[in-house]
Amino acid sequence: MAQSNDFIVIKAEENGVNVIGLTRGSDTRFHHSEKLDEGEVMIAQFTEHTSAMKVRGKAVIQTNHGEMKTESDVE
Ligand code: TRP
Repeated sequence: MAQSNDFIVIKAEENGVNVIGLTRGSDTRFHHSEKLDEGEVMIAQFTEHTSAMKVRGKAVIQTNHGEMKTESDVE
């Protein structure tokens, strides 16, 4: 499969931010959930096993496509 090996950087801006990996293939489901506390950074790639990621909680996300922030659930 043609796949980029670019890294994605996620920095938590509050405690309890979740980075969830979703499976590649016909069955799309959560396969991993990583909890980050404020200031913690996760550096991740899309892989043979991971086709999508979901970020819950306040965080800054940097990709090749630019930088974005998630909105917090609770204001
Ligand atoms: N074992 C997983 C994989 O190779 C690890 C992983 C890669 C992952 N990227 C991720 C887990 C993003 C959560 C989010 O696919």
